[in-house]
Amino acid sequence: MMKFFLYIILITFSSAFGQEEGTPQRIVLNLTEKPAESISVTWRTVDMYINSEVSVAEATADTSFVDNVKSFPVKIEEVLLNTGDIVYHYSSTLTDLNPQTLYTYKVGHDSVWSEWSQFKTASNKPSPFRFIYFGDPQNYLKSFVSRIFRAAYSEAPQAAFWLIAGDLITDPSRDELWGEFFYAAGFITRMTPLMPAAGNHEYRGLIYYPVEDNKRKILTPLWRPHFTLPANGVDDLLETNYYFDYQDVRFIVLNGSEDLNAQLPWLEEKLENNKCKWTIVSIHQPLYSTGKNRDSREYQEKLLPLYDNYGVDLVLQGHDHAYGRTYKLKNGQIVGNNEKGTVYVVSVSGPKVYSLNDKYKNLMVKTGNGLQLFQVISVDGNLLDYKSYTATGELFDSFELIKE
Ligand SMILES: [Fe+2]
Repeated sequence: MMKFFLYIILITFSSAFGQEEGTPQRIVLNLTEKPAESISVTWRTVDMYINSEVSVAEATADTSFVDNVKSFPVKIEEVLLNTGDIVYHYSSTLTDLNPQTLYTYKVGHDSVWSEWSQFKTASNKPSPFRFIYFGDPQNYLKSFVSRIFRAAYSEAPQAAFWLIAGDLITDPSRDELWGEFFYAAGFITRMTPLMPAAGNHEYRGLIYYPVEDNKRKILTPLWRPHFTLPANGVDDLLETNYYFDYQDVRFIVLNGSEDLNAQLPWLEEKLENNKCKWTIVSIHQPLYSTGKNRDSREYQEKLLPLYDNYGVDLVLQGHDHAYGRTYKLKNGQIVGNNEKGTVYVVSVSGPKVYSLNDKYKNLMVKTGNGLQLFQVISVDGNLLDYKSYTATGELFDSFELIKE
């Protein structure tokens, strides 16, 4: 009798703790173009649940928020995996939210739901905030990237979002590696929006298709189903080329693995019509390479004039698997702290490391290799405070930018 009772308890527990068939997986928040009034959420299930939805309410200290829930419909996308299996991705943009407000939400269908998770909308006016920037996670996501994600979360749990400068997954056609990425991120992407750039590895393992005389790689078909990013970039590059304004900072994400020429007029327009005090660009491939035998000429020729002309403050990059942070630069030359210029950073969060390139060493304030790093960047009025930390929590690099 006792044995039977225990068995019943075990069955009940296994289903109560998220093992039920159809439990939403890989839940991730992404910011929209207007993070003070909306946010997107994406998840997936193995089978299709047509009546899936998102339930949202302003968070309350007690559980009475459940009496004020609003439902949002979802878009469902059927996705064919490399294994031949089919899965279903769901996405929804939650609109008409209030600024600087803590919300709670769950996703699911019928009686099978995620837990309630919380997120905070941005303010609709300048206000201090911080975000976390990572270079390439890419390899050994479960075994080695988990600890850097956890270290970053421990250092800045209230970060407004996480920005990853590309190469999230070494072979993005392999669904199990996406599974490792979400394992490493755990519950964090359910609370902290993720804003990824696409790197060259988001194109790996895929067929090249001829485009006119050139050959072109195709973005992994698993990128867009996993995220719901602002669709405000160049038409062909939606969700890999986008921008968003977070309070007084314009963030511009470029796709350095595609034709940059197509993005330049768009980039110029976003730099020119920009009311934010600060401008931060993220692109996977760096202008000033830190990895041995890497050539950045194409990126310099195309992007540097625009960065210089419109005074981009900070460029957050990856790709080179070695750390480098430049002085403030203009036209490839070091400028004074009080002059207009741009700081370029390359960082890496995963365990794959390259030896350092000394080609640009005269432009670098700080370099390093062999480390897993994350960066906490805080913006407060005229001050931008940048800190890079190791996986073991030591401060590795820091600087401030001050606007006059
Ligand atoms: Fe890369």
